[in-house]
Amino acid sequence: MAGTTRSMAAADLAAGPWILQDERHHTMIFQAEFTVRIEPQGWTFAASDAVPLLQAARNAAIGLPSSCRNGTCRTCMCRLLSGQIRYQIEWPGLSSDEKKDGYILPCIAYPQSDLVIEEPRATALPLPVLG
Ligand code: FES
Repeated sequence: MAGTTRSMAAADLAAGPWILQDERHHTMIFQAEFTVRIEPQGWTFAASDAVPLLQAARNAAIGLPSSCRNGTCRTCMCRLLSGQIRYQIEWPGLSSDEKKDGYILPCIAYPQSDLVIEEPRATALPLPVLG
C-alpha cells in the first residue's frame, strides 16, 4: 500500500516541466522521459537523462542513501535490475565485477531508458508543498 501512495505522489510531480537550480544557480528546465521503479518498495518516479538518478528520486520525494554525490564514497551503490544508464565520467568507483553484477552509483548515473533498481534502503521523504 505504501508503494501505491508514493507512486501517486510521484506521478503528480512527474507532470513537469521541472525547473531546478544547481549550486552555481544555473537554471535547468527538463521534462520527464523515463520511469524508474524501486524494488522492493514498488515506488515509481519520473526521470530524465539530464538529471542523475539520485536527484530525480529526491525530486519525487524519495530518498536514496548518499554521501559524496560524486561517485567516490559508494554509499549510494545499488543494483540495476533492468534498463540502461550512463555516466559522465569514464570509470566511476565500481569494480568491473560489480558492474557486471549490475551495481550502479545513482548519484552519477543518468537514465537512458525506463529503469528498475533494487534499493531496500530507499525512504519516503516529506512531500513538497506545491502552489
Ligand atoms: S553518494 Fe557517494 S558514490 Fe554516490
